[in-house]
Amino acid sequence: MDWSDDEFGFETRAIHAGQAPDPTTGAIITPLYLTSTYAHSTPGVHQGYDYTRSGNPTRSAFETCVANLEGARFGFAMASGSVGTATLVHLLSSGDHVVACDDMYGGSYRLFERVFKQQGIEFSYVDMADPNNLAKAMRKNTRLVWAETPSNPLLKVVDIARAAEVAHAAGALLAVDNTFMSPYFQRPIELGADLVMHSTTKYINGHSDLIGGVLITNDEALAERLKFLSNAIGGIQSTFDAYLCLRSLKTLAVRMKAHEANALAVARFLESHPKIAAVRFTGLPSHPQHELANRQMIGHGGMLTCNVAGDLAATRRFLQTVRVFALAESLGGVESLIEHPAIMTHASLPQTVREQLGIGDNLVRLSVGIEAEVDLIRDLDRALGAV
Ligand SMILES: Cc1ncc(COP(=O)(O)O)c(C=O)c1O
Repeated sequence: MDWSDDEFGFETRAIHAGQAPDPTTGAIITPLYLTSTYAHSTPGVHQGYDYTRSGNPTRSAFETCVANLEGARFGFAMASGSVGTATLVHLLSSGDHVVACDDMYGGSYRLFERVFKQQGIEFSYVDMADPNNLAKAMRKNTRLVWAETPSNPLLKVVDIARAAEVAHAAGALLAVDNTFMSPYFQRPIELGADLVMHSTTKYINGHSDLIGGVLITNDEALAERLKFLSNAIGGIQSTFDAYLCLRSLKTLAVRMKAHEANALAVARFLESHPKIAAVRFTGLPSHPQHELANRQMIGHGGMLTCNVAGDLAATRRFLQTVRVFALAESLGGVESLIEHPAIMTHASLPQTVREQLGIGDNLVRLSVGIEAEVDLIRDLDRALGAV
C-alpha cells in the first residue's frame, strides 16, 4: 500500500509506511532479519536481497518509513549521523567547494576541517541566518550548501526555501541537517532542499540507546549515487539498530509534542529567572528569527540554550546541582539532559571560533525531555539557587 501524505496523516504513516504484515507469518511487526546473506535460486537470482551491507528487509522498512515522513522516496540508514554526513560529502570531488553554516555540530565541523579538507574539498563558513551571507559566499566551484537548522548550539535558523534558491541558482545542492526538528516539525525537502541528514541517535530513535544516522532524498539520480556510496563505503546501520529506529518512529509525533510543551515551559521559566542572562528557544517571541521559525517549522522541538548570569564557576555549580536533568552530551532522548557546549559537545571547535560565535563559559544547552514539567522546573530552580 502507498502511504501517501495526500491521504494519510504523519502519525498514521509513522506506524504503517513500509511496514506491511510479514508475508510468511502475518506478523504485524516487521521482523528483525538478523542475516548477513540470502539464498539465490540460481547464481544472480534472489528475492531482492543478496548481502546485508547492500540491503536488509528490516533496514529497508525503516528507510521507507523515514523517507515517507520527510515527504521523500529514498532513505539510507547509516551507522551514525557522522558517517551519514561523510557519505553525503563523498558526492563531491577534490576541488569542489562547500558553503556551510558557521554554527553547527562540532563533529561536523571537525569532519569538514580535519578530514575532507585534506582530501582537497574547500569549505567556507558563514552566518546563514542572513541569506545574503550565503549568496556572497557562493563560488564557481560551489557544489554543496550545508545548513544545520536550527543550529547546534545557538539555534540560528536558516531560511531553507531561500537557501535552496541560492544553491540551485549556482548549480549546487542544498543539504539540511534536520536532527534538531525531526521530520515531525520540519521537512526541508518540501521546502526545496535536495538532501536531508539526521543523526537518528537523537529524536528519531529518541531513547538514547543507539547511534545512527539517515540520509534522505527525493531525487532518483542522487539516490542511485547514495546507494552506491553507502554500499561501497559500508557505513550502513546495523539491522538491530534499524529495528529500534523503526519502532521509535511510531511514537515520534507524541514524543515531539511532549518535548515541545516541556521546552516552552522551561524556556519561559528560565527567561523570567534572575540568575539567567539570556535564553534562546525558537518558540519564544524573543528569538530573533521566531517568525521565520514559525513559517518553516510546524513546532519548535525540545532544544534550548541559556546564558547563566555568572562565570564558569557559577555555571559549573548550576550543572553539578541538577538531579532530574543529567549532565551529559547528546540530545533528543525522552530524558532531560543538560551540558556545557564549550567544554563538552563543541570542544572540537577551536577556541577562537567558539568565542566569535558566542559559545562561552556561561553558555548551557538543554535537551528537554518528556518527564513531568513541574519536576523539570523545580530541578532547574533548585540548581539555579547554587549559582
Ligand atoms: C545536529 C547534529 N548533527 C550530527 C550529529 C552527529 O551524529 P552522530 O553522533 O550520530 O554521529 C550530531 C550529534 O550530536 C548532532 O547534534
